[in-house]
Amino acid sequence: MIIEKVAVLGAGTMGHGIAHVCAMAGYQVHLFDISEDSTQKGLNKIKNNLEKGIARGKLTEQQKQNTLKMLTGTSSLETACTDANLVIEAIPEIPELKQDLLSKVESLISSESIIGSNTSSISIETLADCLKIPQRFIGTHFFNPVHIMKLLELVHHPKTSDITIDALKNFSLKINKEAILVKNSPGFATSRLGVALGMEAIRMLEENVASAEDIDKAMVLGYRHPMGPLKLTDLVGLDVRKNIGEYLAQELKNPAFSPPKLMLKLVNQGSLGQKTGQGFYTW
Ligand SMILES: NC(=O)c1ccc[n+]([C@@H]2O[C@H](COP(=O)([O-])OP(=O)(O)OC[C@H]3O[C@@H](n4cnc5c(N)ncnc54)[C@H](O)[C@@H]3O)[C@@H](O)[C@H]2O)c1
Repeated sequence: MIIEKVAVLGAGTMGHGIAHVCAMAGYQVHLFDISEDSTQKGLNKIKNNLEKGIARGKLTEQQKQNTLKMLTGTSSLETACTDANLVIEAIPEIPELKQDLLSKVESLISSESIIGSNTSSISIETLADCLKIPQRFIGTHFFNPVHIMKLLELVHHPKTSDITIDALKNFSLKINKEAILVKNSPGFATSRLGVALGMEAIRMLEENVASAEDIDKAMVLGYRHPMGPLKLTDLVGLDVRKNIGEYLAQELKNPAFSPPKLMLKLVNQGSLGQKTGQGFYTW
């Protein structure tokens, strides 16, 4: 299975990053979002990140031009998907929304094309249920910021074919990511551990155990984490993590994943972390 054209659905925090690394690796990429405005915002973020790369001496102007040449934005799902060999979905973490989009996608692509979902926590098997050919479906879980983070968590469900897994392993090499292969289970390998730590850190802040800075420092200096759990939650988005926590609490029947009151309060007031300028930290 040769992948040449990639469609990325959703041009938000993750989608624009996925489109960036695919275009940089030489794939032709269509970046799709619900409006021309959101698509353009995604493309602008890619351009900004490429320019930052040049300013830091990591990229050349030529690499930037070559990457931008491979990218097109569209608000037409049909244009995005029709000739794509790989479609990666990166829309909000709402099962019905994803299933609705995935079944539309399947009606537009060839029977050999592969579909990946960037879900952080929804069951890959459940999402595959809406497809006529579930063998072509796999979790493609990228990390934020996508153009910097090395990991790609590939999540297979019982029907994922070996052809799909092999194609995605090759794809991950080409986009310069390190793939891990994980069986479908709530939270996969990464979110289950990461969210457990994040929720506990928020509960500690709520109980005034220590300041946000000191809780984060405990993990950075004491356990060699590159970033503390509260800062990471700010970076991911409090709303995104709240949804994942609620889902994991229910699926794993474990209240440790339930969003603490402080998190609910911040989300309700629109303090969603870095993207809104305010979360546990002021950005
Ligand atoms: N933010 C993170 O750090 C992170 C990390 C790993 C995985 N994820 C997962 O990636 C997915 C996307 O998260 P995000 O943080 O990029 O969200 P986001 O809110 O930043 O972006 C989502 C984008 O999808 C668009 N969208 C909404 N409905 C759509 C539809 N029907 N069709 C096309 N586009 C639509 C929105 O306009 C928005 O631009 C989620 O499943 C999330 O759990 C997020």
